[in-house]
Amino acid sequence: MNKDGKKVIFSGIKPSGDLHIGHFIGALKNWKALQDEYECYYSVVDMHAITVRQDPAQLRKRSLSMIAQYVACGLDPQKNTFFIQSHVPTHAELGWVLDCYTMFGELSRMTQFKDKSAKHADNINAGLFTYPTLMAADILLYQTDLVPVGEDQTQHIEIARDIANRFNGIYGETFTMPQAYTPKVGARIKSLQNPAEKMSKSDENANACVLILDDPDTIMRKFRRAVTDSGSEVRRGEGKDGINNLITIYSAITGLTPEQVEAEFEGKGYGDFKTAVGEQVCSAMRPVQEEYRRLMASKDFLQAIYKEGAQRALSASSRTLRKVYRKVGFVDR
Ligand code: TRP
Repeated sequence: MNKDGKKVIFSGIKPSGDLHIGHFIGALKNWKALQDEYECYYSVVDMHAITVRQDPAQLRKRSLSMIAQYVACGLDPQKNTFFIQSHVPTHAELGWVLDCYTMFGELSRMTQFKDKSAKHADNINAGLFTYPTLMAADILLYQTDLVPVGEDQTQHIEIARDIANRFNGIYGETFTMPQAYTPKVGARIKSLQNPAEKMSKSDENANACVLILDDPDTIMRKFRRAVTDSGSEVRRGEGKDGINNLITIYSAITGLTPEQVEAEFEGKGYGDFKTAVGEQVCSAMRPVQEEYRRLMASKDFLQAIYKEGAQRALSASSRTLRKVYRKVGFVDR
């Protein structure tokens, strides 16, 4: 809870790639609804990003592009706090303290660490190992109640809770116990090429994933090539993962129920439907892309957003850090 009694939401965004319509439908669109009720912090976690090698120019560009994409999707930078993790030193500071309250064994068991060590065997650095304590610091600094993340991150939320519990147990109530906040089912968008799998930007087949910043021709082409079954009726059903997914997308974008979508396409074939889904997605992305281009062209405006965000984040997180420093026995500055 924040000092005004509002519940706090925190999420970290790795500046490692492009957002796709799965993010838009499954997360961003819903987050707009949260901005009035909750105090929301969204941090571009560039310090986490360097646990694997990054091209410096790319990292800088992507960090800015991420903020612009979030704002372009309709998240109000006045109501939400957007900031870049490396701009707010309390993260590294609390991260160190939490390192001293996290066990080697706990960190060794993290599946993301095991996966990434296997993938980057030539660079198993200490930052990769302590990634979860920095993430715990991100979350705990803001007395966060809810953390919107994908399922792959639940183990990280668990360890953040374990660390918070341990610290609270030793020193008394210091950190709010955070909870993962996973969006309702149904909004989970699947790959257009392999609709049994989640849509993912790291799919080898570029046609599997529609990016928020794809141009209209690309969007239309990807939907026309979407894999479907050999049937012909636009109806949901078992074994019809492709059509089910397209109906989900159409319904999420238009706000129609799946039944209404089926009724609208009664008697029409898969081809017409794919074109219609593509057109709806194009028209939903058009204003987002326009706003994105405007933001990226006006560096001052974007800079004002992340500078103000960093100030707000620093002020909120410093309260927690001060408390922690006092509890562990550091001398007041
Ligand atoms: N580990 C998260 C991911 O890979 C990113 C992240 C860093 C994060 N710090 C966070 C997410 C704090 C939520 C809260 O997606």
